[in-house]
Amino acid sequence: MHRISEQLIRWYKRNSRDLPWRHTRDPYLVWLSEVILQQTRVAQGLSYYRAFAEAYPDVSALAAADEAEVMRLWQGLGYYSRARNLMKTAREVMDKHSGKFPDTYHELIQLKGIGDYTASAIASFCSNEQVPVLDGNVFRFLARFYGITHDIAKASSRAVFKEAATEILPSNKAALHNQAIMEFGALQCKPGTPDCSACPFSGECYASQKGMQNTLPVKAKKTPPGNRYFLYLVVICKQEILVKRRTEKDIWEQLHEFFLVESQESFAGEDFPEDHIKTHFPGIRFTAKGYSREYIHKLTHRTLHTRFAVVSVIDKKKIPPQQGEWMPFEKLKTKAFPRLITRFMESELFRKFVND
Ligand code: ADE
Repeated sequence: MHRISEQLIRWYKRNSRDLPWRHTRDPYLVWLSEVILQQTRVAQGLSYYRAFAEAYPDVSALAAADEAEVMRLWQGLGYYSRARNLMKTAREVMDKHSGKFPDTYHELIQLKGIGDYTASAIASFCSNEQVPVLDGNVFRFLARFYGITHDIAKASSRAVFKEAATEILPSNKAALHNQAIMEFGALQCKPGTPDCSACPFSGECYASQKGMQNTLPVKAKKTPPGNRYFLYLVVICKQEILVKRRTEKDIWEQLHEFFLVESQESFAGEDFPEDHIKTHFPGIRFTAKGYSREYIHKLTHRTLHTRFAVVSVIDKKKIPPQQGEWMPFEKLKTKAFPRLITRFMESELFRKFVND
């Protein structure tokens, strides 16, 4: 067994977190945890994992689930295409494997929604298959320990890291070793400035010796995100509110929102945006109820700058159905909204109306 692996496992036994998906070898549950944990921190992912595992305890339950309900449970995690792919993969497992979730790398990698990392994680954790895992935590540990300067954002670097990961993978201990190396990267060999004084590898780690913890791993800078400017017209009529479902191929597909006006320029002015209401709801009598501050919401490639203008109307029949659907206030919580909008719904400005 490789000495580095021995050290990692020893460290893991003393320092690992007790996480629910580490108590199961059910490939469906492990897959669920891995999809939730992509782009999500463990602390945030935990409650979602519990909710999904309870609502859909096996792959057949998830495959048969109501998509709107899945989106609602996913609400707040972001990257909503992950939730849709989750359902697609569940259905594919029903079709191709009669509902028995596979646990070998070979079968897993053939499923459309599952890539190299997830297939390796499930196969090693659940059936101890001899395959290395490469996630962000593993890249970081290997880059620092060995002084690998290949750009981790480049696909061509993967082979270099895979070779290093394979070399230290012990036989018959892939499940334990892979959990250990990932946990080590997450908790000890952290991004930024790790605490190398507490690290069992500090005497031999390349980055620690050269003071390169901040430069390794190398990751090419992406172009900074561009801006989008949103104005939501929040139209209220008595105890109902005008809501739309997003259908375009854009962010938040299938989630709900209010009537959206998008512009190339910021909605920065102090004054209530009456002109926009008159343009989009011509001939409708309305009362301006309030104009929110600007909400900033960061997505991977965009920063959204959003304001909400609340108006009330008397005669909802004058608003054509393509402008949205009228929904009683109490039904709002049964629908999936993007986090940006639920943040606004928690504001005093909004709650004032809903409780009026
Ligand atoms: N992040 C992704 N997968 C994980 C796992 N299995 N345990 C802890 N953190 C993770």
